Amino acid sequence: MNVLVINGSPKGKASNTMKLTNALLEGIAENKDNIIKQLTVKDMDITPCLGCMSCWGKTAGKCVIDDVMTQVYEDIMQADLVIESFPLYFFGMPGPMKTFTDRMMPLMETYKGECMSIGDNAFHAPRFDMSGKKLVLVSTCGYARTEEIYDALIKEYNFICGKGKYIPLLCPQGEMFAIPPLKPQIEAYLNRYREIGRLLGRGENVSVELINKASEPILPQKAFETLVNNYWNSIL
Ligand SMILES: Cc1cc2nc3c(=O)[nH]c(=O)nc-3n(C[C@H](O)[C@H](O)[C@H](O)COP(=O)(O)O)c2cc1C
Repeated sequence: MNVLVINGSPKGKASNTMKLTNALLEGIAENKDNIIKQLTVKDMDITPCLGCMSCWGKTAGKCVIDDVMTQVYEDIMQADLVIESFPLYFFGMPGPMKTFTDRMMPLMETYKGECMSIGDNAFHAPRFDMSGKKLVLVSTCGYARTEEIYDALIKEYNFICGKGKYIPLLCPQGEMFAIPPLKPQIEAYLNRYREIGRLLGRGENVSVELINKASEPILPQKAFETLVNNYWNSIL
């Protein structure tokens, strides 16, 4: 299986979110047949979409910009599993990841004006055959829990990909990954991601129960609040 990882954290390798993604990858790599390719968006020289819409018209399916994304389109077409990994920034994705996502336009079918009943479906059908590919979204945020805080991002992904067409692994309390005394709790949490990685790596389904467990708070509310307060007090 070809696995493509897109690290969209502006922190690059120091990303909290990548700690979870790396645990996922450990599980995936247990199947030695799997080939993993990683991209770090912050290190890529991606030209922002020009908005010319040529990829929906004159050059349908092809972007007029010749930059690193030309290879990324190829990588996506080759991938069986795509993992997008990034933090929540102002209830959405970080800027560099948005630039990356805007460049996905050539992979979307041209919109011809119909007024569809969307329901749980994506707004735009894919231009190319994406059946058989899986998408996993891994994200951390700084807030105590994921409810509500991720609503806008999830709505965006539902519109882009279709509800139920991707696996959302959303983790609150992201800052806890950087607190050394929490290592045992963090390790236990990472094991949930390793387990999901093993299933993905074997091409098996991931249950809703496991997905929900991977999105639970790392610490109980009171303990989290105390640690966050201690942290800010220590640097003031
Ligand atoms: C510019 C900026 C915006 C942020 N916006 C949010 C937010 O809307 N909600 C939230 O819970 N956390 C927010 N955070 C916190 C990050 O999501 C959190 O620290 C995350 O774990 C960082 O992940 P990373 O290390 O993978 O980049 C924000 C952080 C920054 C720097």
